Amino acid sequence: MKRESEQEASLREAASRALENAYAPYSNFRVGAALRARNGEVITGCNVENSVNGLAMCAETLAVASAVSQGLTEFDEIAIVTEDSEPTPPCGACRQVLNEFAPNIRISSYTRDGKEATWTLSELLPNAFVLNPSRGRV
Ligand code: THU
Repeated sequence: MKRESEQEASLREAASRALENAYAPYSNFRVGAALRARNGEVITGCNVENSVNGLAMCAETLAVASAVSQGLTEFDEIAIVTEDSEPTPPCGACRQVLNEFAPNIRISSYTRDGKEATWTLSELLPNAFVLNPSRGRV
């Protein structure tokens, strides 16, 4: 396995800290995510569940929403940490959310004991659906 760069390690640590804030009393599956924006800023997210089934929000999607709310829309990398025994890829909905802003983003997922898997978004979501933003405007 290749040696982790300092930048990768700090993104992984940010995701790991975000996992500590996860609110996942229903699934007991805590997730932390950290996005590195093009300007170097790191924005995190964690999953937030709800008493109402189906309202759970994923860590990756919340990280993207938080970054966009801060005016950041270009991303190079996302780190994901879960408590599973194997690195887990982002769910389908999160892949689509990431694709909106960063179709070439690199995705690294980690277990808490440091097992890693890395993909590009285009590997995980080939032939993604995109809508031309000018559609429907007059
Ligand atoms: N979850 C994420 O936060 N990201 C994913 O990519 C997969 C699933 C969360 C949603 C829910 O709170 C819990 O993990 C179990 O599905």
